Amino acid sequence: MQKECILVIGAGGQIGTVLTEALRSVYGQSQVIASDLKPLPESSGPSLILNALDGQALNDVVSKYQITQVYHLAAILSATGEKDPLKAWDINMTSLLNILEIARQKPLHKVYYPSSIAVFGQGARHENTPQLEVLIPETVYGISKATGENWANYYHKRYGVDVRSLRYPGIIGYQSLPGGGTTDYAVDIYHYAIRGEIFPCFLHANTALPMLYMPDAIRATLELMEATSDKINVRTSYNLAGMTFTPAEIASSIQKIIPDFNITYQPDFRQAIADSWPASIDDSAARNDWGWKPEFSLDAMTKDMILHLQ
Ligand code: SER
Repeated sequence: MQKECILVIGAGGQIGTVLTEALRSVYGQSQVIASDLKPLPESSGPSLILNALDGQALNDVVSKYQITQVYHLAAILSATGEKDPLKAWDINMTSLLNILEIARQKPLHKVYYPSSIAVFGQGARHENTPQLEVLIPETVYGISKATGENWANYYHKRYGVDVRSLRYPGIIGYQSLPGGGTTDYAVDIYHYAIRGEIFPCFLHANTALPMLYMPDAIRATLELMEATSDKINVRTSYNLAGMTFTPAEIASSIQKIIPDFNITYQPDFRQAIADSWPASIDDSAARNDWGWKPEFSLDAMTKDMILHLQ
């Protein structure tokens, strides 16, 4: 059997940083090539600079390193995307289509493409949002992810590309910082708490959003990608859930360990984005098809985050 050689695109990002190391521990350090737009810090394996908008450069890297799987984590997220919608659309779609085309032509064994709760919007049920729900996203990020899911499904059905996807909720971890998302507050809040500062939250106290702790997010990704193809019945993207909480609830979870911690609420344009997203997600398709089960609750995550950040 050919040894897998994995290319991670966006390896310097919030999830890419952690996922690259997790993939290296499974497939071997030299078998996982980390790539990003900017030079990556010294890490445990090979890395290179790559712009996924440059299809030829991508093609060259895939040939040179005999890449068999691509994890495409680069994207402009919800809040940043609203500042320049056409640029966000171009970056998010061109990079995906470049990868899908190479996957079809080379061919690659597998492609991973994250989607997001941002695909939901107008008309979608707010609580326990089902797998099959109306998708009328209200951000350009959500539009690009909903469209990307459909392209993934199309490349699978038409060309047999084994592309798999998860609709990540907000992801929280101590290893890396998110950039430009609406759920970022739930990472920043821990950094403020550790520094002993008051946290100015850009969402209302009672804005419930679906969230997932990084170890669960990484495990979900690896389990999805390792499942046999016959278990993957959803070729757009799987709903994925961990926990749901509001800014007030995460603040009181932190106060159980750091009693002096304080939060203030100063909602900005991101409030409307959060309001358009589900509060909770029905992930029964992922549970039934490939055995997904989250481990971390809010309090367990808070304990672990504070332990590591301290
Ligand atoms: N974390 C993302 C964002 O807030 C959602 O997928 O944009």
